[in-house]
Amino acid sequence: EKGTYPHFMLKEIDEQPFVMRKIIREYQTENNELKLDQNIRQAMNSCDRIYIIAAGTSYHAGLVGKEFIEKLANVPVEVHIASEFSYNMPLLSEKPLFIFISQSGETADSRAVLVKIKEMGHPALTITNVPGSTLSREADYTLNLYAGPEIAVASTKAYTAQIAVLAILAVDTAKTKGLPLDFDPMQELAIVANAMEVLTDQKEAIEDLARKYLHTARNAFFIGRSVDYHVCLEAALKLKEISYIQAEGFAGGELKHGTIALIEEGTPVIAIATQENVNYSIRGNVQEVVARGANDMVISMKGLERDTDAFVIPHVHELLTPLVSVVPLQLLSYYAALHRDCDVDKPRNLAKSVTVE
Ligand code: M6R
Repeated sequence: EKGTYPHFMLKEIDEQPFVMRKIIREYQTENNELKLDQNIRQAMNSCDRIYIIAAGTSYHAGLVGKEFIEKLANVPVEVHIASEFSYNMPLLSEKPLFIFISQSGETADSRAVLVKIKEMGHPALTITNVPGSTLSREADYTLNLYAGPEIAVASTKAYTAQIAVLAILAVDTAKTKGLPLDFDPMQELAIVANAMEVLTDQKEAIEDLARKYLHTARNAFFIGRSVDYHVCLEAALKLKEISYIQAEGFAGGELKHGTIALIEEGTPVIAIATQENVNYSIRGNVQEVVARGANDMVISMKGLERDTDAFVIPHVHELLTPLVSVVPLQLLSYYAALHRDCDVDKPRNLAKSVTVE
């Protein structure tokens, strides 16, 4: 039920702080230890490489998950688009573990890969919002997202839930391996939940940005570096999916290799700046597009902000910034679509769950 909300998408964006808190509760024991199936621990510890398989937004969550697993748990990870992997399988390692990320658990492209790798005898873990779904039943293990039903075609709370669960999985693996960790994931996720609440309370400011930058835009570009780049891909998908504005996410450093040719007077360029080690470089990229007439909107994180930034998100742990930076971008897409009279919850040509190839 939508309740007092005009759209499911807006309701689901607002539910994200509660989903974070639910995940914290579900993945924690009474003694504040991480709670995870021993078989999953065993699978994570005995593999030599992880293959994340997903589509759309879930693929974008996988890109963020790779960062966690490699940086915290020290296991190499490849992230693959399901439909590509099925017809063009890369060389596999000796002891692969497959992780399927799927909100619905019914995506045909991902299932096709699951069927193939099961035939080959490889283990599979599904991370899904729907416990009894096909991908959950057919995999060896399941991790639940606890996001509650996601009705809007544009995925929002499932994306942040996927990232949170991947962070917990990575930290848990690091702990079982006895690797050093300098942060408590549950405490950091609680900080994230509070930050999300601050952002969902700033709808008017974000609606103004949507009006100012996107109301009549034909196209829009999102630029970022490192994990911000992954969020750019997700932000661009969200915007194109519901507002029909042609949108692309680019790695800041790639601009000069071609993309900058697209920048004209007034082209909206939205830059994400949440990572200290690339803050200087992404600022340089913003200067480059501004010099070509771009209408720049920088979304930065507290502590890294500059006076001219359009929007500043609260400070969170630098690995977890996608959970927070994505919220104003989800809202930006929502308002852009709303102002352009698009059907926000049911965009044209799209189904919530893509169960055919
Ligand atoms: O249910 P899944 O997570 O497997 O779905 C994958 C994609 O179809 C889905 O994320 C799609 O990209 C969304 N509509 C994006 O908002």
